Amino acid sequence: MSEIDLGKAVGHQDPDIPVAWNQRDLILYALGIGAKKDDHSLVNELDNSWAPFPTYPVVLMLKGADQDVIDFKTRVGGKNKAPGLPRFDPNRTIHATQSIQILKPLPAVSGQGWKLKRRIVAVSENKSGIILESEFTLIDPNGIPYAKLYSSSFNLGAKATGGKFTKRIAGAPQAKPIPKDRQPDWVVKDQTTPEQAVIYRLSGDYNGLHIDPRIGKAAGFGGVILHGLSTFGFGARAVLSAVGGGNPNALKYFGVRFTSPVKPGDALETSIWEVGPGPEGTTEVTFVTKNLTTGKIVLGAGVAYVKKQEKSKL
Ligand SMILES: *[C@@H]1O[C@H](CO)[C@@H](O)[C@H](O)[C@H]1NC(C)=O
Ligand SMILES: *[C@@H]1O[C@H](CO)[C@@H](O)[C@H](O)[C@H]1NC(C)=O
Ligand SMILES: *[C@@H]1O[C@H](CO)[C@@H](O)[C@H](O)[C@H]1NC(C)=O
Repeated sequence: MSEIDLGKAVGHQDPDIPVAWNQRDLILYALGIGAKKDDHSLVNELDNSWAPFPTYPVVLMLKGADQDVIDFKTRVGGKNKAPGLPRFDPNRTIHATQSIQILKPLPAVSGQGWKLKRRIVAVSENKSGIILESEFTLIDPNGIPYAKLYSSSFNLGAKATGGKFTKRIAGAPQAKPIPKDRQPDWVVKDQTTPEQAVIYRLSGDYNGLHIDPRIGKAAGFGGVILHGLSTFGFGARAVLSAVGGGNPNALKYFGVRFTSPVKPGDALETSIWEVGPGPEGTTEVTFVTKNLTTGKIVLGAGVAYVKKQEKSKL
């Protein structure tokens, strides 16, 4: 192994990931993030309002171009080839933050030749571990970008020097603080189902933690937990329906910090505050999503840029 020097990893380009999807993948994703039977714009490709849900590209980081179930350990193993990094324990890697900037609406079927380009944009170390942040750009076969994703993982217990370190060359917009002096402008309640993780995993994240209760117990969660990106999608559906009138093209940016696990079956509540104008005629909102019963925050530091619109009449 090469010498450990965290700064060397920043800017490293990982190999491109070929990606592909079809209409069925988009509908399955919508169900994985909680779409209901009457949400025709999400689940019914025969309906005029049907369109890809804008956060779909986040699943491509693991799904790639595969259609069948894949072996999760093979997919994530050996990913960590950047110079300067220590070896990370995959069992102690946590998805810490995720964001997506939507540049163009996705086609319903990708066809071949789409890719996610990726590079490491930040590495930091503190007493509890090492945080790695990657940027993924979704491009079509002509190189036109459709979405930009930032994803960070916290490698608990990983160590370079044990001291504090941060190097960053790019990153996602951060959330403004929640206004302390007023109630949220919108509150959206939703319900995950006991089958939520079993459905969500079919979008490409086959980590056993989400289906085998023994793994969840060994990891200290007391059983199966829901994919963070499923909760992410619940949050995006909530923000889009409240602020963007349910129009899939209204969402331009959406980012969160994963703060605690959700169990399949938990009820969720997303509280959303308008905090000012966002870029390009959007409205900026800040939000949190809670486990409704415990009140524990599951998505924190939420930020979204949305083209504000009234709910369309059916
Ligand atoms: C991760 O956890 C699994 C299941 O408990 C175990 O079989 C495996 O050896 C662990 N991996 C490492 C690197 O510790
Ligand atoms: C290290 O960073 C992580 C991720 O931002 C944070 O959750 C954790 O509290 C930090 N630990 C210390 C000791 O600062
Ligand atoms: C969410 O709240 C419910 C009701 O108290 C609880 O059973 C469940 O374990 C909570 N979920 C998590 C992940 O803590």
